[in-house]
Amino acid sequence: METEKLSHIIESICQPGKGILAADESTGTIKKRFDSLGIENTEQNRRDYRNLLFTTPDIEKYISSVILFDETIDQKDDTGKTFAELLASRGIVPGIKSDQGKNEHPDFAPQTITHGIDGMPERLQNWTGRSNGTLGFTKWRQVILVEPEPSDTFLESVMDAMAQNAAYSQAAGYVPITEPEILMDGKHSIEQCAAVTERALYMLYRKLEEHGVSIAHTLLKPSMVVSGKETKTDSPEDVAKATLDVFQNALPKNLPGIVFLSGGQSPKQATENLNAIIVLAKERGLLLSADSLNQSNEWFVSFSYGRALQEYALKVWEGKEKNIAHAQHALIQRAKLNGLAQKGEYAPSMEENTVTA
Ligand code: 13P
Repeated sequence: METEKLSHIIESICQPGKGILAADESTGTIKKRFDSLGIENTEQNRRDYRNLLFTTPDIEKYISSVILFDETIDQKDDTGKTFAELLASRGIVPGIKSDQGKNEHPDFAPQTITHGIDGMPERLQNWTGRSNGTLGFTKWRQVILVEPEPSDTFLESVMDAMAQNAAYSQAAGYVPITEPEILMDGKHSIEQCAAVTERALYMLYRKLEEHGVSIAHTLLKPSMVVSGKETKTDSPEDVAKATLDVFQNALPKNLPGIVFLSGGQSPKQATENLNAIIVLAKERGLLLSADSLNQSNEWFVSFSYGRALQEYALKVWEGKEKNIAHAQHALIQRAKLNGLAQKGEYAPSMEENTVTA
């Protein structure tokens, strides 16, 4: 394993005031987002939308990395550069969604299982070639329903696949980002979400150890611990406490960084919650600065948002060229506010006059 290369990639991702833009929606997922706005889901429109995101002026001030979908690797900007090369040239680390989506689990429906592990070593090689070696990380997402309560056998089967992806990724020179997403769907309590999150994380790190993965060369992309969508909206302080309590119990100390998904929270909620988590993590002495990554028992904490970063930008764009600059403005505002939250310096009053579409 090329540990020095992997450490360097982690240092490039984990920078103060910056986070990850998740732009790895599959063709099916982006169709849902486009459909709701009447944008046709063509290859050209997907390329134009990603071009809008990746050419946003100054985006590298708040975004250290971008997660891409397979198709996007080969698409090009207006100057003929591939998107992966464009991002790398702006000092942004491009990465790839390495899973291939989910199917109903054969034994544990309605729970699902993420697929795509067959042929992974070949696929990783293919991505390295197609991107000219610019891709730095992979991301594997497994979603988990709080109800019906996931069994240990279910968790073991799905975390095993996530750990295999991590092992193959490290062997091929990629930092694996493991993404166990406890879904907000449902009527469960925050305590139920905490219990399932803790069990899922224990299982994930057990499986990573079993597969010989170097935890110090991985990143975790978790969901925040929150009540079900149909239950209530928790205060940022409650989310921060519940989330950090679970992490302190379940996460290994040599994990370098945590980058949250937004999971269906509104853009403002996701920013407020991240800020509260950072403030409390600082109080508890859990945060580290980028220059001591891997050398201490603390974590870098930031965002890896898809919907919470893109929602307003996509709505403003509407598939129309005349709206590009305004949409880029909406994106950079969200990125900047999340960059402030990453430092615990965000206040809800900063939302005034922002573009909300
Ligand atoms: P959301 O922030 O929209 O949950 O997306 C994150 C993600 O999983 C894509 O990588």
